Amino acid sequence: MRLNTWFGALCLIALAGTALAQADVITERRAGLKRAGEAMDQMKLLVENKSDPRPAVRQIDEMIGFFTGMPKLFPAGSDKGDTKAKPEIWQNFSDFEAIDMRLVTHLKLLRNAAEGGDVAAFEAAYKATGPQFCGSCHRPYRNR
Ligand code: HEC
Repeated sequence: MRLNTWFGALCLIALAGTALAQADVITERRAGLKRAGEAMDQMKLLVENKSDPRPAVRQIDEMIGFFTGMPKLFPAGSDKGDTKAKPEIWQNFSDFEAIDMRLVTHLKLLRNAAEGGDVAAFEAAYKATGPQFCGSCHRPYRNR
């Protein structure tokens, strides 16, 4: 094989590798977001039933871990494929990151309220996090 054919072949392998890596990252972030949605649904039930919020602490810790690292799961170009991520994310990446960090702050407050076992404080923190906050990133950055 001539040198430039080799080079072409290597480029193709690299491209295929990138596409695969993008697919992995999309799968990983969607799985984490899905779990976050399920965790919020379970917390909604705790709120509606005025149940002891302490069992939610473990799930909130998991969400804090996931959202703290979430921007890394949005590498440039990963709006292609099986994803609802809008290209606007990469035009305003620092805004996207800032919204994500604000969510982490809400989650920490929610965690403290859950750990304290106070039903009313948990309800207030839950509303400020889920119903009032998650959409502030979905509206600008997620396709319907
Ligand atoms: C910083 C931005 C941001 C924040 C904050 C955010 N999301 Fe999302 N969310 C996204 C984006 C972007 C997608 C689309 C991801 C994709 O399809 O690749 C998404 C998708 C989802 C999905 C669909 C996952 C799937 O099955 O494909 C769920 C569920 C979800 N988010 C729940 C939540 C919940 C609950 C919160 C709040 C606790 C939240 N999100 C906060 C950006 C965000």
